[in-house]
Amino acid sequence: MMELFDTRLNDDDRPMGRDELAEAVKSADVLVPTLTDRIDKAILAQAGESLRLIANFGTGVDHIDLAAARERGVTVTNTPGVLTEDTADMTMALILDVIRRVSQGERLIRSGEWSGWSPTHMLGHRLWGKRLGIVGMGRIGSALARRARGFGLSIHYHNRRQLPDHAEQELEATWWESLDQMLARMDIISVNCPHTPATFHLLSARRLKLLKPTAAIVNTSRGEVIDEQAMTRMLKAGEIAGAGLDVFEHEPAVNPKLLALGNVVLLPHMGSATIEGRIDMGEKVIINIKTYADGHKPPDRVIDTLL
Ligand code: DGY
Repeated sequence: MMELFDTRLNDDDRPMGRDELAEAVKSADVLVPTLTDRIDKAILAQAGESLRLIANFGTGVDHIDLAAARERGVTVTNTPGVLTEDTADMTMALILDVIRRVSQGERLIRSGEWSGWSPTHMLGHRLWGKRLGIVGMGRIGSALARRARGFGLSIHYHNRRQLPDHAEQELEATWWESLDQMLARMDIISVNCPHTPATFHLLSARRLKLLKPTAAIVNTSRGEVIDEQAMTRMLKAGEIAGAGLDVFEHEPAVNPKLLALGNVVLLPHMGSATIEGRIDMGEKVIINIKTYADGHKPPDRVIDTLL
């Protein structure tokens, strides 16, 4: 970016404060935020006339007020596609971990309290033959389905739109128009839809109650899609069997009640954290800015698709 543009960097990798963000939008033509920068109405209200593009470093754009950006004529772009395989890998890792108790076993070894093999020790469940329900069958959901088939899971999904026949056949996936009906029949639920006003608490307390008590939930999307308090209560009460969470409703704060539970695996939002992925994200950001600066429409505009 420094070769191509007159660039001001936030080079210590910590989120900028509100004042710093306000200062940046006042003077910049292009802002490159990431998911820890809240670009809300109040920040956008302070933007100078020159701000025309927000080129987000990341796929999720729920930290940006898209409507306010559109009102001000500011284009928003993101970095779709380049995090897909890494996030799907991490989702599969969480599924395996929760169902086969990988982290619990690891913690036991480190505690020094392992007294040896026994027939009933550390029993998890067989993955092969179980039903996986994917909430949101976009790029990441589909990449997860491909992996999960290799582990013998049967693939079910809920999505606003049914996939075309050829895609359903390739993934051997069954579409459920009703999320409620799908939830009630799955062994594992994976959340892979973006967080938008329409998906906030999509897995509400009422819907979580539809799950079988033996079911597990995995979330590598956004914490806000699940009513985290209700889920935590149900995990504690044994009404949901387990959870693998890479994202949290109020991250980086993690509900202390979740920390106290043995049947959950908790990761610090690292689904897309690969060196290759970060480089690809950076390149996408640069392509979006350069295309815009050259007078064309940047390829990864999000404002129209999500509103
Ligand atoms: C994104 O790009 O939105 C991801 O959540 C980063 O991991």
